[in-house]
Amino acid sequence: MTLITTTVAFLLAVPALAATSAVNSSLGGEKVACAMFRLKYPEQTYYPGSAGYVYETQSVYWSATTFNGPACIFVPQNAQQVSLAVTTMTLTLSKFAVRGGGHMPIPGYNGIDSTGILLSASNLTALALSSDKSTVSVGPGNRWGDVYSYLAPSNLAAVGGRVGHVGVPGLLLGGGISFYSSQHGFASDNVVKYQCVLSSGIVVEATASNTYSDLFWALRGGGNSFCIVTRFDLKTVPSSEVHIGIAQYDQSQSKSYLDGVYNFGKYSAPADPKAAIIPTILTFPSVGLTVYAAAKFYDSLTDSPTAFENFTAPRLPPVADSYALQPLASYIAATDALQPNGLRQAFRTLSSLVDREAVQGIHDTFISQVSSKLTSVAGLQASITFQPVTKSFLQKSVDSGGNPQGVDISKAPFFWQVINLTWQNSSDDAVVQAAADEITAAINAFLAQKSLSATYLYMNDAGKGQPVFQSYPATNLRKLKTIRAKYDPLSIYTNLLVGGWKVADA
Ligand SMILES: Cc1cc2nc3c(=O)[nH]c(=O)nc-3n(C[C@H](O)[C@H](O)[C@H](O)COP(=O)(O)OP(=O)(O)OC[C@H]3O[C@@H](n4cnc5c(N)ncnc54)[C@H](O)[C@@H]3O)c2cc1C
Ligand SMILES: *[C@@H]1O[C@H](CO)[C@@H](O)[C@H](O)[C@H]1NC(C)=O
Ligand SMILES: *[C@@H]1O[C@H](CO)[C@@H](O)[C@H](O)[C@H]1NC(C)=O
Ligand SMILES: *[C@@H]1O[C@H](CO)[C@@H](O)[C@H](O)[C@H]1NC(C)=O
Ligand SMILES: *[C@@H]1O[C@H](CO)[C@@H](O)[C@H](O)[C@H]1NC(C)=O
Ligand SMILES: *[C@@H]1O[C@H](CO)[C@@H](O)[C@H](O)[C@H]1NC(C)=O
Repeated sequence: MTLITTTVAFLLAVPALAATSAVNSSLGGEKVACAMFRLKYPEQTYYPGSAGYVYETQSVYWSATTFNGPACIFVPQNAQQVSLAVTTMTLTLSKFAVRGGGHMPIPGYNGIDSTGILLSASNLTALALSSDKSTVSVGPGNRWGDVYSYLAPSNLAAVGGRVGHVGVPGLLLGGGISFYSSQHGFASDNVVKYQCVLSSGIVVEATASNTYSDLFWALRGGGNSFCIVTRFDLKTVPSSEVHIGIAQYDQSQSKSYLDGVYNFGKYSAPADPKAAIIPTILTFPSVGLTVYAAAKFYDSLTDSPTAFENFTAPRLPPVADSYALQPLASYIAATDALQPNGLRQAFRTLSSLVDREAVQGIHDTFISQVSSKLTSVAGLQASITFQPVTKSFLQKSVDSGGNPQGVDISKAPFFWQVINLTWQNSSDDAVVQAAADEITAAINAFLAQKSLSATYLYMNDAGKGQPVFQSYPATNLRKLKTIRAKYDPLSIYTNLLVGGWKVADA
């Protein structure tokens, strides 16, 4: 209440502007809000033309397709300031976007144009290990690399992203696929408490057993429709050193490589939850070159003699392999540059049953479609990654109380594929996005015809328009909508907070 009163006092201090904004939001409510932020927090409010503005709207974003130009940017330092910001947006009817690590590559999902305000998590960088070291509190301004570096001296890690500069909040609000997922489920299955700001401005803490347990459940995969998370308390996992590294294979080995992908998904991953792999097929259509790679992970000081037998000599000799015993944080720091910021990027998500014909058909369709549709696009690189998802992964979700994704464990294992397209020139955006949809449709048609489709679509790997929430069980989607309406009856986080996957729209 104090915060709301303070905000109202601010509004009354600028009566002409306040009256205007109340009557017609497009007459500049966002300008009023910006003026209020600037008045109270001049060092944390950026307008166009400042270095802070350029940093917050461009440098921190992974994909140049999401660079944006808000009326101003507010960079809160703590939950109380987030609360003040939300109340200010509400009272001025200002549209706004919320950005964590800025890795969701969908234009308008983590940024906004000059009709609104960007709320940046850049300064919400708290990190604190609990005294018994069983949990770590993580502010939403952190990247996974920050979390792993912070925990490494304690020989600990958390169940989180596999690339260091990916943001903590977006990954956790969509679920989160980790090297540890076969052992511990989605990253979000390992959150024990959320601190978050409701649209009323009230700051609450949600756990599995307190009065906000419904909100807690929704946040495990429901996206940004419920509250703005200002702290995640995550379970830690022991992690002194792990076996990890990236192997590359020659184009001529594609058949054995695809055998390996299939066999890993079918046998190795289910047999040994300590083993994880990210097989990525990267193709450069303008030169007709395709590279086969696999990030391999084994969570033990002692390497497994068999887990990667189909990705090592004699079955599949790599042309290069950096797999070695090292701290997870070291691998993450060393590989961060592999996915540089500032290119143009798009994702599409798919899912299939684990079947050899599916692996081959997806591969062949992908390569031929990219080659026929995108060869003339400057700097075009396209990859498809087969993420193996085991029964034990999904069982961990169930054991930890369940989540909105509610993936059908009876049909596991799965591959959840992600297509990544990378290019240079905005003049190619429309061509690339249309091709991405067509390639996805062609693969899905192949899978449907062979009865090899799976239903779940992973939010964090999805492209605009993919029916993410529709892939959740209908009962879970209904529950999400009910919880959303309970905590945000005025639909502030659906209508004023623009972008992101909205449960109300599904
Ligand atoms: C190079 C790369 C590697 C990746 N690796 C993995 C991986 O290993 N595993 C995996 O599961 N995914 C991975 N992803 C996908 C990743 O999970 C998503 O891109 C995710 O959205 C990134 O989170 P972010 O905080 O950077 O996103 P942002 O783009 O900042 O935010 C994403 C969405 O979350 C909302 N949001 C952000 N912060 C908050 C908050 N505090 N409260 C409420 N809503 C908020 C935003 O409004 C936005 O809609 C990867 C992506 C990239 C680009
Ligand atoms: C609100 O402002 C916009 C932009 O100036 C204008 O086009 C619109 O007619 C106004 N609406 C009302 C109800 O005054
Ligand atoms: C806050 O974020 C800005 C970027 O917007 C950065 O320059 C500054 O160092 C951050 N301050 C703190 C205390 O984290
Ligand atoms: C390797 O592939 C063979 C089939 O060629 C399979 O039987 C075996 O289980 C696979 N090994 C692992 C660890 O997946
Ligand atoms: C593709 O995107 C996924 C997003 O989940 C990411 O994990 C992967 O590293 C990306 N791969 C490439 C080659 O960009
Ligand atoms: C981008 O494409 C446009 C239109 O085809 C072209 O004029 C421009 O030179 C290109 N820019 C770059 C950097 O290639």
